[in-house]
Amino acid sequence: MINKLSDIFQQKFSSEPLIVRSPGRVNIIGEHTDYNEGFVLPASIDKAIYVAVSKRDDGQVHLFSCDYNEGFEVALSAIQPTENWTTYILGVVDQLVKRKYSVAGFNLAMYGDVPIGAGLSSSAAVECATVFALNELFSFGIEKMEMVRIAQKAEHTYAGVMCGIMDQFASVFGKKNHVIKLDCRSLEFEYKPLKLKGYKLVLFNSNVKHSLSATGYNTRRQQCEQGIAWIKKVHPGVNSLRDVTMEMLHTLVAPKDKIIYKRCKYVVEEVQRLLSACDDLEKGNILGLGRKMFETHDGLSTEYEVSCEELDYLVNSVKGNTSVVGARMMGGGFGGCTINLIEENAIGEMIDRISASYKTDMQLTLSAYIVKIEQGTERITNNTHVGI
Ligand code: GLA
Repeated sequence: MINKLSDIFQQKFSSEPLIVRSPGRVNIIGEHTDYNEGFVLPASIDKAIYVAVSKRDDGQVHLFSCDYNEGFEVALSAIQPTENWTTYILGVVDQLVKRKYSVAGFNLAMYGDVPIGAGLSSSAAVECATVFALNELFSFGIEKMEMVRIAQKAEHTYAGVMCGIMDQFASVFGKKNHVIKLDCRSLEFEYKPLKLKGYKLVLFNSNVKHSLSATGYNTRRQQCEQGIAWIKKVHPGVNSLRDVTMEMLHTLVAPKDKIIYKRCKYVVEEVQRLLSACDDLEKGNILGLGRKMFETHDGLSTEYEVSCEELDYLVNSVKGNTSVVGARMMGGGFGGCTINLIEENAIGEMIDRISASYKTDMQLTLSAYIVKIEQGTERITNNTHVGI
């Protein structure tokens, strides 16, 4: 992939590129908790976006996507949000300019194997690859945490999704064979080795992405904020659902709005669930961890209501199977992947079975990926060969 990207880059831009790899992510548990100041448990994977860049001296930004076989040119002084893949790159440039980094003209070509719209954070991978590459190209000296912030802000302003910090954080800070337990309030984090004792994480991509995903996501965030606002009137010290108890929800939110109550209840429970799931992981209690994944799915489906027919179908088809200890929808929702904890020697048979039934019952093709946890964002040098 790197060679192909490099060849295309040289054909298009007649210069030698600097190349950066930034991965997609999985999240084991802790969904829709990041923007509520809870915890998340993501890891960066072996599917990534590669970005190749070089300088230009005419103040122009020339982009090329190898996946779409499509180019785009704009003057640095004229960038604005677009409706396609370029918006993630331009959003990062806009953030750099706003933060007074002296961005000059550049060429950028992009290639990747993170499936788009699958809930594996392909957009965060593009943003993180871009900010990392431009930081290298122009020697800005930006710290990793600021890169994460820039990438997240690009998603807010140019893609219009008011995402939390998990995806960009996981892409940049990922570590091979480790998950990250991230406290989204303090941003303190710990790497934990992922020891699954004969089980593996497998993703089932529903290959659907429902159109309400961006608005549905933003609405959930507003609903959480509304719940906090009601509680805050009585408990001024409460700033996020992280600080909220079930008692507060019963007395201060339930009487006002049943839907907002359900949304907040899911988040409050999920924050606690993640903490005990981390204990399970530490103690090697894989069954306990798996059970919590199923519980998370129930909450996301019935209370937070970000699942969909296809995702529910995939989770229900593995429920009750003794080789599958846990399964749930992953990421923002409304389509994308389920993440499954499956006994290693049952994986092949399971993929075949679910693929066949998904086709018959839903008239859709399933894609399955066995998760490998790789390093976070990095510059590719001639002697680095990262899982390719
Ligand atoms: C998307 C967002 C993340 C996070 C998840 C849900 O992936 O980008 O910030 O909120 O949804 O956990």
